Amino acid sequence: MSPVDRIKQLRQEIRDHDHRYHVLAEPVVSDYDYDVLMKELLDIEAAHPDLVTPDSPTQRVGGAPYSSFPVVTHPVPMLSISNTYDADEILDFDRRVRDILGDEEAYSYVVELKIDGVAVSLRYEDGVLILGSTRGDGVQGDNITANLRTIRSIPLRIAVDHPAINQLEVRGEVYLSHAGLEQMNQVRSEREDPLFANPRNATAGSLKLLDSRQVAERPLQVFLYSLRFEDETGVLAVQPELDSHYGRLQWLAGHGFSTNTNAQRFDTIDGAIGYCKAWESKRSDLPYDIDGMVIKVDSIRLQQELGATLKSPRWVVAYKFAAQRAVTWLNDIRLQVGRTGVVTPVAELEPVFLAGSTISRATLHNEDEILRKDIRIGDTVVIEKGGDVIPKVVEVDFDKRQEGAPPFKMPAECPICHTPLMRIQDEVALRCENVSCPAQIQARLEHFTARNAMDIDGFGPAVAEQLLSHDLMQDVGDIFSLTQEQFMALERMGPKSADNLIRSIEASKDRPLDRILFSLGIPHVGERAARQIADRRRSLDQIMTATVEELATIPEIGPTIAESVVNFFQNDQNRTVIEKLRQAGLNMKLPELPVGTASQALNGKIFVITGTLANYTRDEAAARIESSGGRVTASVSKKTNYVLAGESAGSKLDKAQALGIQVLDETAFEQLFETGSDGQLNLL
Ligand code: IVH
Repeated sequence: MSPVDRIKQLRQEIRDHDHRYHVLAEPVVSDYDYDVLMKELLDIEAAHPDLVTPDSPTQRVGGAPYSSFPVVTHPVPMLSISNTYDADEILDFDRRVRDILGDEEAYSYVVELKIDGVAVSLRYEDGVLILGSTRGDGVQGDNITANLRTIRSIPLRIAVDHPAINQLEVRGEVYLSHAGLEQMNQVRSEREDPLFANPRNATAGSLKLLDSRQVAERPLQVFLYSLRFEDETGVLAVQPELDSHYGRLQWLAGHGFSTNTNAQRFDTIDGAIGYCKAWESKRSDLPYDIDGMVIKVDSIRLQQELGATLKSPRWVVAYKFAAQRAVTWLNDIRLQVGRTGVVTPVAELEPVFLAGSTISRATLHNEDEILRKDIRIGDTVVIEKGGDVIPKVVEVDFDKRQEGAPPFKMPAECPICHTPLMRIQDEVALRCENVSCPAQIQARLEHFTARNAMDIDGFGPAVAEQLLSHDLMQDVGDIFSLTQEQFMALERMGPKSADNLIRSIEASKDRPLDRILFSLGIPHVGERAARQIADRRRSLDQIMTATVEELATIPEIGPTIAESVVNFFQNDQNRTVIEKLRQAGLNMKLPELPVGTASQALNGKIFVITGTLANYTRDEAAARIESSGGRVTASVSKKTNYVLAGESAGSKLDKAQALGIQVLDETAFEQLFETGSDGQLNLL
């Protein structure tokens, strides 16, 4: 079979599996079998870069980052919906509809969930997704095609069964499920990145990322709820059932789009209202957030007759749910010192039940937020579940404030070690800069000994606290010189548990390099980053002496992580800790790579080929790079590691030089494979 045919076959098969998995949630093959198909397609496309098309499933991994998004003008403005908050307002809406359509006209409604996400528009031409954009101000939005392509439930290609449907636009809502948000926040907390407060913010933040490769890692989903053809008359002539919104939802589902299956048709407004009310009490059962219901006139012809005001169509109305709130007391504001010294205020609440769980703590974010809302200890406060995840204090009931309650003030000093707090540059957060602060050491100890870190069984917070208060430890390096007698002197610690603790400390000395690196608690370095760095640098010494530039060439390691690593090892106290770990006999090296792995010497390196080469076609050069683990991309960006330049190389060469990217001629290129080194960068 020719590569062209095989590519076609593989794409169709993968598309089918994507649809079954991400839209229907009924996969028919194992992840492994799916990966095998994808790998084959990737391999063929790598060998034939000219056959890569934007609708290939391989293009979902994301591409080179943008510096900003191009602007898109919507062919038809993306209007908003007018809101209602009770049944009477919905009845008013129905009356307005009937006034315009006249008493004779029969009409029905479709009622849908109002998904709490971010509105997007997708344009398809000849069945191929050519443009994806945000709503923006309704007239113009951002071209975020690359980001939307990464969402597996958005088809990159659909079947075109009639010429009239050659050009169409689909609109819908990108969202994150509760589980998706949790997964994202888990990764962020490992990296000590600020957490997203709710799924909508996380969705909006994700779609705004300029690097679509990062978007590809986020579990975004979509529900499509609107469909418009360029040639409406032509379409309706061949498919009259498309004169109904409900029919369009079915058409969308039939063409591989993800639609919400809870849409229902009603002949009366009372039926529609009943359905809205029913969902108001069921909303917390859903695995994603909705902020209301949407009621739409079903007939497209009548929708057109009803038309729109400047702001919103007259054929649709939103019924907004009241936010889920509860009232309780603020017993205290506790200051929490994290392992990097960031001091965060936390609300200690009188426990209260809200939307499925008992809440006793809420985030207060930072001092500015507390002052803005004028929150004081002892206040009666209204709390809300931001996206049903992290509860927050929305407002204070000032009428119930106790007389003389003093305004909240962040202390000038660390509540634990009394070092003056510093404001972090460009941030509202305050930080205790004393790396020996017991609260920080305690947080670092907890991190160091945790199951996913050094996994020292039995070394819980209670043990850590006692060791610190007895002055038995200065830093995590001291764990390894503690004796059984010292442990036995602690409260609730018998000879048996002391013995077990000594054993688990001993066992932890065998943890591999990536775990040690992660355990150190370097800001921004999560488990994944630690694994990547350890894999490439292969010993702690090689990590400690790496420059920011060298670290940033490692896949998935950006400048923030790279700088954080370099800063960490420049600090004398941190170096002392490493020395203690070394003395204790931790294994800070990975085994030598077996001979032959050198052929993977270009692992993760990004190349751009330009100009005419003397000894290779571009395809041959690309194949050679890829067989050594490198990647070839079309355009030069900051992420490019090398530009291979032949005769009469043009603007790409100029750009590489402007960005200071290393340019290779063919001789230097060959040397890469012979020595596994370009003499400047440590490739392994
Ligand atoms: S219809 C003319 N249907 O709610 C407006 N919108 O508050 C056509 N939304 O901008 C939109 N679920 O982002 C429609 N089932 C649904 C929706 C929905 C969520 C969003 C949409 C819109 C916003 C208005």
